[in-house]
Amino acid sequence: LPKLFIFDLDGVITDTAEFHYLAWKKLGEKLGVSIDRNFNEQLKGISRMESLERILALDPSLSLSEEEKEILATDKNEYYKQLIETVNEEQTLPGVEVLLQTIKENNIKIALGSASKNASMVLEKLGLTNYFDYIVDAAKVKKGKPDPETFTTAADALSIAYPDCVGIEDAAAGVHAINDANMFSVGVGSMDHLAKANFVVHDTSKLDFEEIVQHFSNWKK
Ligand code: BG6
Ligand code: MG
Repeated sequence: LPKLFIFDLDGVITDTAEFHYLAWKKLGEKLGVSIDRNFNEQLKGISRMESLERILALDPSLSLSEEEKEILATDKNEYYKQLIETVNEEQTLPGVEVLLQTIKENNIKIALGSASKNASMVLEKLGLTNYFDYIVDAAKVKKGKPDPETFTTAADALSIAYPDCVGIEDAAAGVHAINDANMFSVGVGSMDHLAKANFVVHDTSKLDFEEIVQHFSNWKK
């Protein structure tokens, strides 16, 4: 069996990936750049400032000072915080809590591997904090996804070897990070973006403990 499951938060545990998208879209409208769902795939899993840089790069005429960038990033976060006000215990995505319970029943550790500064707050709103043995958020890492640091930090904190870990992600950058950490990667979403994952499910309702473990065992051989 794996010894540690590391969950991404936004888009895996709850649908806050949609709220990040809507908040960036609103900021984009203010800047006169349109952000569609396809471009948004490149923002998933990426830190707030790096996401802003990628958006600003869409329009080379937008050259802003660091101070102006800070203000825009804060604006986006304000939009985002308004959107997550409604997040409550009913908004955990289908299948996720059953998976968390099953992992616990098997005496396997659980960590969070999120790029978000809002991660602990969202986990609290969902009432899921108690499942987690360790939380990695934006404050704990120097290099964000696709760098493996988010995932290796969780494994190191719990003294677990990387190939004994399973990482679950909805972002291409996250899958990349898990693979580079030499952990088993589970992608949640479309093959179009997650083809590099060791195992892909269409949505969280398809996250089955036995099936993940089966694929993990084959990968380890
Ligand atoms: C990641 C999201 O989890 O967190 C990204 O996938 C987001 O979309 C990033 O930009 C940073 O979040 P925050 O809450 O610190 O702005
Ligand atoms: Mg995500």
